[in-house]
Amino acid sequence: MNKRFSRLAAGSIAWSITLGVAAQTAAPMTAPAESTMPSGPKGDAIREGRLLLTETHQRLPKHVGNGLNCTSCHLAGGTTANASPWIGIWGVFPEYRSRSGKVISLTQRVNDCFERSMNGKPLAYDSAEMNNILAYMQWLSTGVPTGTSAKGRGFGPLDQHLTADAGHGKDVYAAKCASCHGAAGAGTANQAGGYTFPPVWGKDSFNDGAGMARTFTAAAFVKHNMPLGQGGSLSDQEALDVAEFFTHQPRPVYRFKAKDWPKGDKPKDARS
Ligand code: HEC
Ligand code: HEC
Repeated sequence: MNKRFSRLAAGSIAWSITLGVAAQTAAPMTAPAESTMPSGPKGDAIREGRLLLTETHQRLPKHVGNGLNCTSCHLAGGTTANASPWIGIWGVFPEYRSRSGKVISLTQRVNDCFERSMNGKPLAYDSAEMNNILAYMQWLSTGVPTGTSAKGRGFGPLDQHLTADAGHGKDVYAAKCASCHGAAGAGTANQAGGYTFPPVWGKDSFNDGAGMARTFTAAAFVKHNMPLGQGGSLSDQEALDVAEFFTHQPRPVYRFKAKDWPKGDKPKDARS
């Protein structure tokens, strides 16, 4: 099934791209129709939440320490299967997370990405911004039964038995990624002070405590979503190799990594 959508990049360039989305069954990854957006204060909150997630760098400068928006990774407003979509997550949190070693709320999970993926600072739990973000995620999850993950949650499958080759990954990066993300991984800036193509390493990228800094997590994202609009075109080996290469380039450091996976079940690709 091909899904056509347009989006506004951080600057003023309107995009229209075609993404290949694998056929899905079970609790479907379907965003509610725009017409179901309530009017009044709740609708205002949902719309504001969506803006905070798509224009995070511009709208929440005190909480974002890099050049990214939440939707730099959670593509198309968190509605793309295998790009860690937010459809359905309202009903699955609170959830046990091995990285935290405890059950955490959706509020805490949102702040995890502020502190790691955005290399920034958490939102106050009772802030309007946090509640607006939650309102959008709840609306996106309309129709997905409580306790059920929608099909396509996370980043999709990738062969976990492969061994990464960073040297080959460097060649894949030059051939398939550098045209947008830059030869030095610094992305392509726009005139609004953000990025048309976001950085994948360097000071404006996610920090080394982010899920995207893990080779296999990044590889699954890349396999199913990159090059943008050509998800699925790389082999698992190519995706793994390029992920090993770019995740291990210089990037901001997350100070509290040593506290992660407190139960001793740290995965092999977690950063130390
Ligand atoms: C650099 C890429 C990146 C950016 C930017 C990013 N995230 Fe994430 N996000 C991830 C990854 C990777 C995961 C999954 C991590 C894992 O489970 O190992 C994730 C998971 C999540 C989840 C849980 C999804 C689930 O199915 O359990 C939520 C909610 C979330 N992010 C919200 C946000 C919000 C809100 C922002 C912006 C403040 C944000 N993310 C920015 C990469 C990113
Ligand atoms: C045609 C341009 C283009 C190409 C080529 C491309 N990307 Fe991207 N990539 C993007 C855009 C645009 C986004 C952000 C999407 C958004 O904001 O909606 C992105 C997002 C990302 C992200 C998450 C955000 C970040 O900056 O960390 C990663 C990681 C990434 N791309 C890696 C790659 C890799 C690896 C390749 C090569 C295999 C690649 N991309 C090829 C355009 C491209």
